[in-house]
Amino acid sequence: MTDASARNISLEEMDRHAHLHPNSLVRDMTNGTVTPRIMHGGHGVFVADDKGRRFLDGFGGLYCVNIGYGRTEVADAIYEQAKQLAYYHCYANNTSAPVARLADRVVAMAPGTMSKVYFGLGGSDGNETCIKIAWHYQAVRGKTEKIKIISRDRAYHGSGIISGGLTGLPSYHTPFMLPVGPILRTGAAHHYWGAEPGESETDFSVRRARELDDLITREGADTVCAMIAEPVMGSGGIMPPPEGYWPAIQAVLKKHDVLLIVDEVVCGFGRLGTLFGCQYYGIDPDLVTIAKGLTSAYVPMSGSLVSQHVYDVMLHGSDTHGLFAHGFTYSGHPVSAAAAHAALDIVEQENLVDNARTVGAYLQKRMHETFDDHPMVGEVRGVGLLAALEFVADKAKKQRFEPAQKIGPKLAAACLEEGLIARAMAHGDILGYAPPLVITEPEVDELVARTQRGVDKVATSLGYL
Ligand SMILES: Cc1ncc(COP(=O)(O)O)c(C=O)c1O
Repeated sequence: MTDASARNISLEEMDRHAHLHPNSLVRDMTNGTVTPRIMHGGHGVFVADDKGRRFLDGFGGLYCVNIGYGRTEVADAIYEQAKQLAYYHCYANNTSAPVARLADRVVAMAPGTMSKVYFGLGGSDGNETCIKIAWHYQAVRGKTEKIKIISRDRAYHGSGIISGGLTGLPSYHTPFMLPVGPILRTGAAHHYWGAEPGESETDFSVRRARELDDLITREGADTVCAMIAEPVMGSGGIMPPPEGYWPAIQAVLKKHDVLLIVDEVVCGFGRLGTLFGCQYYGIDPDLVTIAKGLTSAYVPMSGSLVSQHVYDVMLHGSDTHGLFAHGFTYSGHPVSAAAAHAALDIVEQENLVDNARTVGAYLQKRMHETFDDHPMVGEVRGVGLLAALEFVADKAKKQRFEPAQKIGPKLAAACLEEGLIARAMAHGDILGYAPPLVITEPEVDELVARTQRGVDKVATSLGYL
């Protein structure tokens, strides 16, 4: 007998009483305006709740279930590894077979000149590790003042203390006294809202690079350690960079001897139709964070990848600073590593990177065909299997809705009624899409059709149609 049945309370009530949910409005659960949805199972791009309702998961969980739901190969790998060796730590030069093999595999797959990987648990801690390695690198070089980290408005790098501060969304800061630490902010790479009237994408990129140059010069290059950035800005609204952005930004960073930490938590392992976002945009990173697609979220795992030249400096650190005193109990967890191998086997055997490219191109085409002329849609954007629709009150005047109208959440709720999970993004009225990389063209048609029905319902209620 379960606790719930013994006490004669439902799972919903148990959850409501005892579970503090991430990224949720606290009072919703207590005052009963929201009932927790209990997810029960999944297969491919579909998930089902315990009431038997089936949803097309247009956001792959939190853009992480890249191989789709219900892959028993991964479950089997987890089971076998848990039986063989469920846990041993990686402190003090210990390791295990799946971890050693995964390090070798991931470094070989990685973009740029990556030489080592440190394993963690999720994107937030993966980014915090990269920041600490960047600080360590500058300290070993004797550049102890070179500590400031540049991040962008609307960036998302997690919700830890440093990673939450690096996130450029005010709601992640205000109640938590963030940001703390030496964090600088520069403009988002989003042409639609950021460009001056008539400014081309290329000119906008040049301006963003000039602003970065000015910022570093103003602060003093000898005080700036690194810049952290996602290849495509994700949770801030899914915004592919404008033409020419990455070459211009990298030139500025190189000129000032500032490291580039590329947050590949979303783009890594195929989402854009290339293995990493770095390859799509020609980015040459010094450090790289990976998570989500590494295990396709079957169990938690992240990686902080270190390039050869950064590692060469860390080597000197053994003499000058002693121990690399950074680690988590679960760094290099053998069960996570076994899951990662099984998930990456599927990515390779089923050519999911190619699928993301071809089906991703189809998704972008269908989104443009369907929504470019929609009276409430200001911008249709995306790359690979990452897409967004941005809704505006006045398309011609580029005017946003009032935040109190909560148009984004209303649209997501309308899509949910149509059996589609699309994500209302944190900033503005945006529906985001990042389906599992196994999605097919007919499933994309279904995703677009369900979106259209949901959006048109809201548009009709507001008098747009
Ligand atoms: C780009 C990026 N970095 C970091 C994170 C944080 O990852 P986690 O939630 O696993 O800590 C996320 C999460 O969505 C992300 O999108």
